Amino acid sequence: MATTIKVNGQSHTVDVDDDTPLLWVLRDVLGMTGTKFGCGMALCGACTVHVDGQAVRSCITTIDTVGTSEITTIEAVGRTPAGQAIQKAWVDLEVPQCGYCQSGQIMSAAALLASTPKPTDGDIDNAMSGNICRCGTYTRIRDGIKQAAVASGRQGG
Ligand code: FES
Ligand code: FES
Repeated sequence: MATTIKVNGQSHTVDVDDDTPLLWVLRDVLGMTGTKFGCGMALCGACTVHVDGQAVRSCITTIDTVGTSEITTIEAVGRTPAGQAIQKAWVDLEVPQCGYCQSGQIMSAAALLASTPKPTDGDIDNAMSGNICRCGTYTRIRDGIKQAAVASGRQGG
């Protein structure tokens, strides 16, 4: 059935079953392939997007639950101050290895930084524990979040 969702500031009307995961609408219907499929069971974080600023797993978020929420994907997170700071730190520190998990990592990190501008190690652990990286880039991810927090603080103050 036809449903209208708002992605990256634009409305899209899609004709899919109500229980279709948001991930498949983004990738297969809208062609936004930056959001990745890993496990399909909310266990890896590769599919993370923002729904009204909150990091959610799009693989288990059915299209009938998003309503008029603002969905942001990796394609547009760089338009937000937190997303921009995270992406810059990721480039500076060369965080990715194979890269497969990294759009999900960036989305979780950007949501953390937006809500918690000066995250502690505990905040980072809590926010990032559901994002798995098979390449083991965890140390650089942590450093990247800290660098982005410092850079954002400098910009803001
Ligand atoms: S694909 Fe959604 S959490 Fe793994
Ligand atoms: S960079 Fe390869 S899985 Fe994370």
